[in-house]
Amino acid sequence: MPQEKLHHIALVGHMGSGKSTIGSLLGNLMNYDHIDLDVVIANQTGRSIGVIFAEKGEKFFRDLESQSLESKLLTQEPLVISTGGGIVERSSNRILLQEKSFVIWLRADINILVKRVSRRSSRPLLKGKDPLEVLTKLDRERANFYEEIADLTIDTNNMKAANVSDMLFDSLKSRLGEENE
Ligand code: S3P
Repeated sequence: MPQEKLHHIALVGHMGSGKSTIGSLLGNLMNYDHIDLDVVIANQTGRSIGVIFAEKGEKFFRDLESQSLESKLLTQEPLVISTGGGIVERSSNRILLQEKSFVIWLRADINILVKRVSRRSSRPLLKGKDPLEVLTKLDRERANFYEEIADLTIDTNNMKAANVSDMLFDSLKSRLGEENE
């Protein structure tokens, strides 16, 4: 595996797959800074993701998302990057992620994701909609993309975030060890 691939670690997967929580835990374990692209965008614009979608539309959000992905992947210090579920929609983002990061897909069954996202209602794509319907449709559109770019896939069904991050840390440590041999 080329060194560049382990420079940044990107977490991808559907809404509710645990990218933010697991990213933060993994950042601590790896001693890498952790960033969440949605948070970067909200801080940059001074608006929540919901407000950006409502006022400027999805395309405007996707442009900001692509820009922030590109700029973060260019940073010198290694990062753990939690992406938004829709990052894989643009082929340019998929190419960048594959080229510039080690991509981890946090996979989970749709019914588990539905349970998780139903606890919070701030996601614009779910506003006023049936989460099962939305996630089923998004899974049809995006699952192949996650699979296609993933260097590592982990099944997070019924797993606690801390267990997932510990497993990822062990796996990454052994890969880094192999690289240094
Ligand atoms: C989106 C997922 C969200 C956020 C935005 C769009 C998507 O991030 O980027 O609401 O298209 O799936 P999370 O995956 O962190 O919820």
